[in-house]
Amino acid sequence: MVQQKLKETVEFIRTRSQLKPRMGIVLGSGLGAFVERVEVETTIPYDEIPNFNSPTVEGHQGRLILGKVGGIELAILQGRIHYYEGHSMADVVFPVRTLALLGTEIIMLTNSAGGLDPNMKPGDFMILEDHINLMGDNPLKGPNIKNLGPRFPDMTEAYEKSLSEKMSQILSQNNVRYWKGTYCGVSGPTYETPAEVRFLQTIGGKAVGMSTVPEAIAANHMGQRVCAMSCITNMAAGLSASKLTHDEVTEKAKEVEARFCDFLEEFVQQV
Ligand code: HPA
Repeated sequence: MVQQKLKETVEFIRTRSQLKPRMGIVLGSGLGAFVERVEVETTIPYDEIPNFNSPTVEGHQGRLILGKVGGIELAILQGRIHYYEGHSMADVVFPVRTLALLGTEIIMLTNSAGGLDPNMKPGDFMILEDHINLMGDNPLKGPNIKNLGPRFPDMTEAYEKSLSEKMSQILSQNNVRYWKGTYCGVSGPTYETPAEVRFLQTIGGKAVGMSTVPEAIAANHMGQRVCAMSCITNMAAGLSASKLTHDEVTEKAKEVEARFCDFLEEFVQQV
């Protein structure tokens, strides 16, 4: 069923573009401006793509962009759907699976996240070294789709070290403040309680967010080389005096968007 849908979706996209992307990128909340750096070949709104769902959250556009940066062919998902919107995990990862079937080798995931390390400052970046899936679900649940990948995928290096090192190098060279660490994926849509934040710190988390983990699982399943970066838009609940709002998250992401785009532009040309 999923396989049939993927086939239909890929065939549709192929009627609009023949581009063979090397890398797929998912742009998270408030980080969509990267597409302005892209020599765009084709833009397709999600609502025109068979089997794609459109995001319902503010700060998330819904467009697939195929194009190039410095001659590197890219497929970009500008905006994603989340588990908390009511979608199944299979639906959440459908777009990333589509990118892989368009021929990508590398998937880069980006997101906004809450900082769990008290030394962080909103606006910092964090390279994902690993994740903890606390969503209570897994996109690979149910019959395995053998053509996509194995029943029990290895997740020892879910985020490829060499890609993370390249990200580090570029951020350091550009004097951008960044961290490395474990991302805790939660279902949301509530932000965490201070007690939950203390729990996440105790289990070794450095950032917390409501996306990325399902996509990283599905991309690993398909043998993609995966890397991910968080924009720390806020300190997690209880670590700062103020209450959390979605506006604060998207505003902070917007504030660092130019720095993020500079980084990404360099990264895609160096991997
Ligand atoms: N918690 C969960 N998800 C988030 C946060 C947060 O503090 N900030 C941005 N996404």
